[in-house]
Amino acid sequence: MEQYAIKGGNPLVGEVEIGGAKNAALPILAASVMTDETVYIDNIPDVRDTQVLLKAMENIGVFVKHEGRHKVIVNGAQVHNLVVEDEYIRKIRASYYLIGALLGKYKSAEVALPGGCDIGCRAIDQHIKGFRALGAEVVIEHGLIKTRAEHLVGSHIYMDVVSVGATINVMMAATLAEGLTIIENAAKEPHVVDLANFLNSMGANIKGAGTDVIRIRGVARLHGTDYTIIPDQIEAGTFMFAAALTKGDVVVKNVIPKHLESISAKLLEIGCEVKEQDDCVRVVASKPLRHTHVKTLPYPGFPTDMQPQITVALGLSKGTSIVIESIFENRFKYVDELIKMGANIKVEGGDTAIIQGVERYTGASIAAPDLRAGAALVMAGLAAEGFTVMDDIHYIARGYEDFHQKLQALGAQIELVNSERELQHFKLKVG
Ligand code: UD1
Repeated sequence: MEQYAIKGGNPLVGEVEIGGAKNAALPILAASVMTDETVYIDNIPDVRDTQVLLKAMENIGVFVKHEGRHKVIVNGAQVHNLVVEDEYIRKIRASYYLIGALLGKYKSAEVALPGGCDIGCRAIDQHIKGFRALGAEVVIEHGLIKTRAEHLVGSHIYMDVVSVGATINVMMAATLAEGLTIIENAAKEPHVVDLANFLNSMGANIKGAGTDVIRIRGVARLHGTDYTIIPDQIEAGTFMFAAALTKGDVVVKNVIPKHLESISAKLLEIGCEVKEQDDCVRVVASKPLRHTHVKTLPYPGFPTDMQPQITVALGLSKGTSIVIESIFENRFKYVDELIKMGANIKVEGGDTAIIQGVERYTGASIAAPDLRAGAALVMAGLAAEGFTVMDDIHYIARGYEDFHQKLQALGAQIELVNSERELQHFKLKVG
């Protein structure tokens, strides 16, 4: 079983290159089947979630050709199966993006519902409401979400909650509907905008992405395109906080600083220097970290996907901090692991963490409970005194490409080990 072995204490110093955004790549890959023409997509992160989605696409007849590690050529002309029930697809949340894409193009789709409830129950009522508003029938049977329509007709849809997934799914289906769709209370995340730009480059007519009202004028068909995915805001934010936690000095390259504003603002508040240039951000942490308060919110608020990383940093700050999670119900599970490392954190009502900063963390045997918390706990291990051994690291590979290799290049003492012997070898090597 693979584990991470970590010896904490080294400040991270150097440069790290950020990859393409996972949460943009997933809907863009799904949307690439919406034309019969060939689509070229560049800057796809080579992570488990994109690999699983591409496999599922191949299984329904989509032609997929990899050109190097980050570029794929996709052709959806030969889709022969509108039932997506791949053995792995339930493991990734974004499997449901194939519903919007296939429903839009073929007016029919059956996709296995994503399983797991790792960070709180993740409803899909707003997706269903949107599809129905466009004229589709939707039922959930035998673990599949099944949708079908004679015609999809544009509609005025008010989202009851701000949902990235529902905004994206409805935007895809509406792209090939008849007439105008207006999505109110839409999500404004950079990946929503990236998908709209991608669809527009294929001939769609989408306006307002990035604001809370998106207008989609349906078109009869889409054509091929050549598109490059935006950089990953969360991967960038994770390395920015890794610099803060280890008292390091890291240049995070290939980013869009505008997408990182809420993250940079919090780093400044806790006493780090943040220097922005055109496409990179440098984080220097030379002073002790200060406490602050934060509430996760839809974009442009502080992202829920950065909540574990900031909590881990505040655990080492001076004073008392409060972190409120307002997006997902169950996103503090990792705090139990952090407490094993000496953190003083109390979670109240499931959504509020009260953090009393401590001087240091100490290495421990811990497990990654989900993707982002897994990355945050690695960072805690890098800041801790002594050795940390981490289980369930497969979660991290879902969304971070070469995570430990990028950390190693910044001077971190971290290795992927496969046995007790390799673990002992690591301990001997790093002392
Ligand atoms: C996406 C991201 C995830 C991120 C989240 C919030 C992807 C693949 N995943 O997830 O990394 O943490 O956005 O930024 O892009 N909700 C409903 N009904 C619905 C849909 C959602 O009540 O039909 C609720 C959810 O339970 C949650 C909130 O809305 O409380 C936000 O969820 P949503 O934005 O849909 O998250 P995802 O798209 O699943």
